[in-house]
Amino acid sequence: HEEFTKVKNIATIELGRYEIETWYFSPFPPEYNESLKLYFCEFCLNFMKRKEQLQRHMRKCDLKHPPGDEIYRSGTLSMFEVDGKKNKVYGQNLCYLAKLFLDHKTLYYDVDLFLFYVLCECDDRGCHMVGYFSKEKHSEESYNLACILTLPPYQRKGYGKFLIAFSYELSKKEGKVGTPERPLSDLGLLSYRGYWTRVLLDILKKHKGNISIKELSDMTAIKAEDILTTLQSLELIQYRKGQHVICADPKVLDRHLKAAGRGGLEVDVSKLIWTPYK
Ligand code: COA
Ligand code: NA
Repeated sequence: HEEFTKVKNIATIELGRYEIETWYFSPFPPEYNESLKLYFCEFCLNFMKRKEQLQRHMRKCDLKHPPGDEIYRSGTLSMFEVDGKKNKVYGQNLCYLAKLFLDHKTLYYDVDLFLFYVLCECDDRGCHMVGYFSKEKHSEESYNLACILTLPPYQRKGYGKFLIAFSYELSKKEGKVGTPERPLSDLGLLSYRGYWTRVLLDILKKHKGNISIKELSDMTAIKAEDILTTLQSLELIQYRKGQHVICADPKVLDRHLKAAGRGGLEVDVSKLIWTPYK
């Protein structure tokens, strides 16, 4: 694909009750590229060029939530697991939509290989997508997350940290450590740094006696390298007598915890009903 095609094409989208300004180019099929605005069905994510087409579609579309299995419900929040192989069109639509807000990621349109975890706020009209993350069914590099997105109207409310926490809860259930696929965007890295800092420092605060990176990794499913870089960037690692030592001065930990921002929405693990993909 030539560079000149990568100019931002679609300027706004309509999705549910929101009109959203886009951020980046997304490779929609050519016939959509002259449109400045696209209209999405908020449930099946089919997209159309005209409002009347969407209205006609909404009278026929009988989805009220993403396809796939609801694996988590707590209050008004639900998470759906969508298998890209069983729901190819949905998976592709989600990738087109997500690319509008993702700069650098190569999106894999080979959606067969991915599971999509779609987070929704539910009410009597249906389950409205807030954000999602994708995950390779089999990752050799122990990636537990490929792409993550919170739709702009929902950003900065803690959903990103919820999605990140959720990805680690799945890793814990698999008995594996995980790490997000690189490169991360600036906002992605900020969110991860905040999550890692909070989780690790909460443990260090409560823990008595020595604790190793390996033990922290076993408890959190965070990959050892990510633990090390997080603690190093906070200057909590010292090298003494040939060994890495974690500093756990409560005052220092509290200062970092404050700087790490709010905790975000909690994942209630007792509400997660899920078995790993086989
Ligand atoms: N400016 C400064 N800091 C920001 C920020 C912004 N616009 N957006 C997020 N952050 C930081 C903050 O530290 C925030 O914590 P705080 O609100 O407690 O200070 C933390 O990231 C996470 O905030 P949260 O509300 O949990 O995340 P979110 O729902 O806004 O989602 C992303 C975060 C990364 C998923 C979202 O920004 C997004 O979808 N971006 C576009 C897609 C993308 O870049 N994905 C990652 C690529 S791998
Ligand atoms: Na992807």
